[in-house]
Amino acid sequence: MSTPAAQHVPGQAPADGIAARARGLTKAYGSGETTVLALDSVDVDIARGRFTAVMGPSGSGKSTMMHCLAGLDTVSAGQVWLGDTEITGMKDRELTRLRRDRIGFMFQSFNLIPTLNAAENITLPMDIAGKKPDEKWLDQVIDTLGLRDRLKHRPSQLSGGQQQRVACARALASRPELIFADEPTGNLDSRAGLEVLGFLREAVDQLGQTVVMVSHDPGAAAHSDLVLFLADGRIVDEMERPTAEAVLERMKRFDVTRAAPFTAEDGGTPSDVTLDKD
Ligand SMILES: Nc1ncnc2c1ncn2[C@@H]1O[C@H](COP(=O)(O)OP(=O)(O)O)[C@@H](O)[C@H]1O
Ligand SMILES: [Mg+2]
Repeated sequence: MSTPAAQHVPGQAPADGIAARARGLTKAYGSGETTVLALDSVDVDIARGRFTAVMGPSGSGKSTMMHCLAGLDTVSAGQVWLGDTEITGMKDRELTRLRRDRIGFMFQSFNLIPTLNAAENITLPMDIAGKKPDEKWLDQVIDTLGLRDRLKHRPSQLSGGQQQRVACARALASRPELIFADEPTGNLDSRAGLEVLGFLREAVDQLGQTVVMVSHDPGAAAHSDLVLFLADGRIVDEMERPTAEAVLERMKRFDVTRAAPFTAEDGGTPSDVTLDKD
């Protein structure tokens, strides 16, 4: 385990409109010769009310970055803020409460409780916290996600896409400032995946949420406003208003020329890779 480090740098308080921010975010796993540097001094600002996608090859540090930004994992060095609250160096209990109140999660494997129906799964985190859901908001989330007629169903009675929509509703239920989704379409067929991506998009456009989604699928990233590209624990590029084709092109370049990603060199046209198209 690494120790949380809080290196206070004066004059680096987050500006308005930033939902989460990291400076010099570094995460090493293990020690000595077996140390893996999962994140190498990452600076990142997550804009409020936007849909940000984080892309990169397997092992590039996407999940680690998300976990550190969400306060689910300690950092080895650097600072992380949620809004204007610095979470690095926070005590466990304080951090747990802050996570519960301000962050929603969606995981690749849904993580629904099989013995609870959809409605119970959606409100479970709030029930555990002893909080009353805002019924109006909850209704809006349920209708936006098209789950109204599925509320009494258990996860086993729902399709993969519906289960992920329940997980999405659960993440949204407490109206968190920030929703993190780690490969939320990874276990879905392309149609159900598109549905979930559409709902994440709506959560941003219609409900004013902030979403950070980790994916390795260019088709999924194309639903976002901004793509951050990770390679070897560093943010190496970003792309506004991404298209699947442009993202794929960028990805191919750092798969092929991994030592020097994103040089002017032409990456060639993709012919051997299929895309989920809208
Ligand atoms: N708990 C862990 N212990 C040791 N190494 C880890 C752990 N989690 C991740 N890593 C390593 O950190 C690097 C980044 O992992 P990860 O953030 O999961 O990448 P991604 O989500 O982009 O696939 C990888 O080299 C991975 O093997
Ligand atoms: Mg991952």
